[in-house]
Amino acid sequence: MLPSDLIKNKLNSKKIIALTAWDSISGSLAEQSNADIVLVGDSLAMVCLGYKSTLPVTLENMIYHTNAVSRGFIKKIEEQPLIVCDMPFLTYQCGADKAVEYAGKIIQNTFAKAVKIEGAEPEIQKVISRLIRMGIPVMGHLGLTPQSYLNLGLKKQGESVESQEKLKRDALSLQELGCFSLVLEHIPELLAKEIQNNLTIPTIGIGAGIYCDGQVRVTADLLGLNDNQPPFCKPIVEGKKLLGEKLKEWVKSERIS
Ligand code: KIV
Repeated sequence: MLPSDLIKNKLNSKKIIALTAWDSISGSLAEQSNADIVLVGDSLAMVCLGYKSTLPVTLENMIYHTNAVSRGFIKKIEEQPLIVCDMPFLTYQCGADKAVEYAGKIIQNTFAKAVKIEGAEPEIQKVISRLIRMGIPVMGHLGLTPQSYLNLGLKKQGESVESQEKLKRDALSLQELGCFSLVLEHIPELLAKEIQNNLTIPTIGIGAGIYCDGQVRVTADLLGLNDNQPPFCKPIVEGKKLLGEKLKEWVKSERIS
């Protein structure tokens, strides 16, 4: 699947499902789930590397983990989900020349067919426009943007009229620049609905209600593997508790056998 194929889902009202992955096991689980997109998100910083935020993750980390994810795939290439890789902090905030070089490294050295970039400030828009013109598809990301948490916090965005108007303008700008889809994170449901209705590109929500054209989840949150669960993701299984108890039982039984 190519990034541009996703538009068909929106036209046919077929929900897009994206799951994150960070290594070959999570990649394999995401592929077997039949998700359309596997996002190698920089959330791997917390989910897999034990950091407290996404900021410490490097380009090398992202390339290394994206390759591990695709090694977990077993389907025929044409049936595999689309891999999107997050551009980590400071690989695009530093200007278009560097961003083309770094995004190019991701595309050249992994099976990712697109990168995701947070925000829509004027500097970021210049970068996105350049990447797209240079042949690198870009997924946008608005609302709660964890790479800006030092300025914006990790709270719900789009609560004031002013911030809602900005989000609507930014979404349209990202579409005009040529983004093939847009992640909307932790914003009011009706705002996400309005943005979704105003755009021809698909919106993919996380903590943005039910009206987006698709949903994305951090797989570790869904599986209940994290200690710090975000308020907008109800786990489908208490994975950490369950697996932890099973391992404890096994260790105990081995000690007495
Ligand atoms: O890094 C990530 O996992 C993400 C999702 C929350 C969309 O950006």
